[in-house]
Amino acid sequence: MSAPGIHPPPADLAKSAHVSSEKQYDELYKQSIEEPEKFWGNIASTFHWNKRWSSPVTRSNFDMNKGPIKIEWFIGGETNLCHNAVDRHVNNGLGGKVAFLYEGNDIGPGSQMTYGEVLERVCKLANYLKSIGVGKGSDVTIYMPMIPELPIAMLACARIGAVHSVVFAGFSAESLAGRVLDSRPDVVLTCSGVKRGPKTLSLKGIVDDGLKRAADGGHKVGHCVVYHHRDCMPQSEVPWTDDRDTWWHDAVEHQPASCDVTWLDAEAPLFKLYTSGSTGKPKGVQHSQAGYMVGSATTFKYVFDYHDDDVYWCTADCGWITGHSYVTYGPMLNAATQVIFEGVPTYPTAGRPWEIVDKYKVSLLYTAPTAIRSLMAKGNDIVKKASRKSLRILGTVGEPINVEAWKWYNEVVGDKRCPIVDTWWQTETGAHMITPLPGATPLKPGSATKPFFGVVPAVLNEQGKELEGAAEGYLVIKQAWPSMLRTLAGDQERFEKTYFEHFKGFYFTGDGCKRDEDGYYWLTGRVDDVINVSGHRIGTAEVEGALTTCHLCTEAAVVPVEHPIKGQGIYAFVSLMEGHDYPPEANVRKELIDTVRRVIGPIATPDCIHWAPGLPKTRSGKIMRRILRKIANKEEDSLGDTSTLADPSVVETLLSLRGK
Ligand code: WT7
Repeated sequence: MSAPGIHPPPADLAKSAHVSSEKQYDELYKQSIEEPEKFWGNIASTFHWNKRWSSPVTRSNFDMNKGPIKIEWFIGGETNLCHNAVDRHVNNGLGGKVAFLYEGNDIGPGSQMTYGEVLERVCKLANYLKSIGVGKGSDVTIYMPMIPELPIAMLACARIGAVHSVVFAGFSAESLAGRVLDSRPDVVLTCSGVKRGPKTLSLKGIVDDGLKRAADGGHKVGHCVVYHHRDCMPQSEVPWTDDRDTWWHDAVEHQPASCDVTWLDAEAPLFKLYTSGSTGKPKGVQHSQAGYMVGSATTFKYVFDYHDDDVYWCTADCGWITGHSYVTYGPMLNAATQVIFEGVPTYPTAGRPWEIVDKYKVSLLYTAPTAIRSLMAKGNDIVKKASRKSLRILGTVGEPINVEAWKWYNEVVGDKRCPIVDTWWQTETGAHMITPLPGATPLKPGSATKPFFGVVPAVLNEQGKELEGAAEGYLVIKQAWPSMLRTLAGDQERFEKTYFEHFKGFYFTGDGCKRDEDGYYWLTGRVDDVINVSGHRIGTAEVEGALTTCHLCTEAAVVPVEHPIKGQGIYAFVSLMEGHDYPPEANVRKELIDTVRRVIGPIATPDCIHWAPGLPKTRSGKIMRRILRKIANKEEDSLGDTSTLADPSVVETLLSLRGK
């Protein structure tokens, strides 16, 4: 018997699991930490290398006092991710295995694509890209919806050594332009349009606007390759620029169906992915070939206890890191069959996810607490209508999962049969870091449990002192792991400042955590100025910057607010130009919100705008966000010390404007 509130792994699942007991986990973990060369060397040997790595396997420096931060894995090796994720399986007789089970936005028959077919499509696109001058080290921006061509585009880049930067197709033209201006690609891959739920969006229109802005900003993109999405507008209605745009089908159709892979140094860059930080513009997190390959594949295998006959479905979009590591790379490196779903979970009804589970006999489901909460709100009947008997393991990612949602996922979705893997990780970590192994780890609802192989977490106090045993503080990582970021694109200085300056000698995660007496980790959320909205990171400074581009706004301060579905919502305090009353006319709010949607994208839409004739500032002019957080979360009874405010009366004024 186990202690109350603890969920041991189901016995039958444990029996056939890759890791089937706590003891086995402990042994493997110990080896991964004490003998990383041997541990990761053994795993890496199961991949294809054009040239094997030499000794040492890894070298790293986490201490700025000792020189530049540098991380290397599988030093001297040469490999190719696309080869390992596709060709290797086809060469091993798995060409006929289904790679993608594609389910469109609207209910329909769906379609399938085998590993053999993926290889052919990847090769054709790679050949076309080569024909327009893309090669080793070229940057390619991808702005596409969740259709099979999105992972295919990523793999085609990886095949020829081009560095992809996928921009989530929900970001605005201006956000796209910012990313294009940062990585300066000659080629952009996109799609005519997309249907999301009942809405049709012209992606190409957004891309045209984005590329015009980029050109005005000093970077002209030479080629824009457009996949035609037949479910959207007719081809003739897609906006077009003749000397730049090419239809994907025209470009790739006549290309040869094979294409030699480009062998790449283990440390060659694989991709950049822009993510929000506490300050400044989004930063290009850069990952490299071999370490990322080994990390994403190994975590996929162990964390989802992947077996050959599993059907896997991750609901994330490839525009985020989850889609990179756990749609494109991790599953495909394991030759998994997976569902690619283009739509939204509540369209046409909230029964859609469970219908998809039954339709494709999904055994491994990976989603986010925000999706779980929104489906939970629709009631249990709609879930119970589906059989869900194919489900084996449930995963969650993106933010701490509240106990209520955990229980619902466990009891209602999984009928108490399926372990929940609550996976803590980040864009920067590339792969799962703290997570249960479903056949080995007893679960505590709300805890991401224990570190994955090779991951050495520590909890520090404010002064940077490492705390032992049960403790609460800042979560850091003590030594390099294979899939960690290597730098921020074009900005090594910001890389070192962001992750290695705060606590010397450690990688700083930006998260707070508790560790209990059993060594289980409980993530408590971001400790920096980053808001986690539905599992997506939004920088407060970015939203403030967007608000102040509106001619009505003089100053803005943005803080997180608790939100029942999204986890955190965006709460903006806004000061207006001279001459406005507080509260102002109704259209002012709308104009501010529209500005944010236009500048960043709908995901950054403020949930609340609180009028602020003045903001609480110190005498030196620094905004006291602590006070604003309290006001936003209706905790003004515990404002704490306000004596350092330049003008304490602003707090009263703010409170009088709540809800106005
Ligand atoms: C931040 C990273 C990693 C893919 C999705 C988000 C939060 C992520 C968990 C979890 C508690 C979590 C952290 C982290 N987070 N997963 N299982 N439990 N918090 O990637 O956009 O890079 O965000 O998401 O705060 O730092 P990301």
